Amino acid sequence: MKTLGIAIVGCGGITLQNHLPGLALCADVRVSALCDSDAATLERARQQTGVTVTSTNYEEIVKREDVDAVIIATPNFTHAPIAHAAIRHGKHVLCEKPLALNVGDTRAIAEAADRAGVRHMTAFTYRFVPAMRYLAHLVKQGALGQPYHYRSCRLQDWGTRNLGWRQVKKLAGTGEMGDMLSHRIDFAHLLVGPMRRLVANTRTVHPQRQGAASDLEDWVAIMAEFQSGATGVLESSKVASGRNESWRSLDYAEVNGSEASFVFITGEWNKLQTGKVGGPGLQTLEVPREFYTWPGSPRDPDQGDPLVTFRYDQAFEFIDAIRNQRPCTPSFHDGVLAQGVMDAAVRSAEIRQWVDLD
Ligand SMILES: NC(=O)c1ccc[n+]([C@@H]2O[C@H](COP(=O)([O-])OP(=O)(O)OC[C@H]3O[C@@H](n4cnc5c(N)ncnc54)[C@H](O)[C@@H]3O)[C@@H](O)[C@H]2O)c1
Repeated sequence: MKTLGIAIVGCGGITLQNHLPGLALCADVRVSALCDSDAATLERARQQTGVTVTSTNYEEIVKREDVDAVIIATPNFTHAPIAHAAIRHGKHVLCEKPLALNVGDTRAIAEAADRAGVRHMTAFTYRFVPAMRYLAHLVKQGALGQPYHYRSCRLQDWGTRNLGWRQVKKLAGTGEMGDMLSHRIDFAHLLVGPMRRLVANTRTVHPQRQGAASDLEDWVAIMAEFQSGATGVLESSKVASGRNESWRSLDYAEVNGSEASFVFITGEWNKLQTGKVGGPGLQTLEVPREFYTWPGSPRDPDQGDPLVTFRYDQAFEFIDAIRNQRPCTPSFHDGVLAQGVMDAAVRSAEIRQWVDLD
């Protein structure tokens, strides 16, 4: 099997937490080049990985012949230009969410990738939680019946600390929406399908964070109608005091349908709560072991902290799709769908009205 060469652009938090350990699990894969615009970060990554080809300029990296695919893990405003550069050179692309700053730019990347015939993937990492995979499987099998409601709630306590690029609109696009809600919008699409219209509100609770201006929302809520007729309520906050900042803080999603209800909580990665229509209430449903890892993933689910290690299956899915010349799950098109909802939510909050989705 040909060894695939992967370039990583952006060597900050998420590359160290998710992408490098994920790639390390994949057979016949080599990180062949690293890029970070910050020379000190790049040097730290070079020392940590032993990868000798490095550059502070992504253009130099994405054109290399020993690079088959590019992982983009930079601040949001840089995703689109880096993705276009990689696609122009015929490279497969795994890009962090949100794919770009607006749906037009996001769609342009997806169309360019399709035209170039490269594999493309949006890093909606929480799709890889075993309990979410099992829930999506049950819903697909019809266990929910006709969907009535989708509900999600992501509550974290980020306090008033400085969030760097994440608190600057021209660098991040949106605040809590792109950071956290984007994943839960993707859950909604996975479980209930596309939305028809929505109304949203946002709030910047801290316009200053440690002396630096923040022009992005700390809180967002969306009320939605799906094309299926189901209703949706989604809320996400960075300022839910006392809720803790880590991924162990509340990440809850629930679906109610004509046959049953299901409750998902990321922290309970191998369990769902479920109740049948007319039944006595919710009961625990264990996730079958076959759902502990993504199909084909070599990861041992008994190794490491399962709340961390499910994320590594994302890199496996990207590599496996490249090898088998099939679409990635989730693809750029899922990123476009989520961005359409985010744009509509921003607009709805601005004009204080319901907004229809395309
Ligand atoms: N999928 C997830 O669960 C998840 C989790 C966290 C972050 N993210 C996403 O990952 C991306 C990065 O987040 P992070 O937390 O790692 O941020 P970070 O600030 O820790 O790292 C970003 C890195 O990109 C570098 N960079 C900036 N501009 C660059 C450019 N033009 N070329 C090359 N390098 C550049 C920075 O120097 C920095 O080292 C964001 O889009 C974020 O939304 C996704």
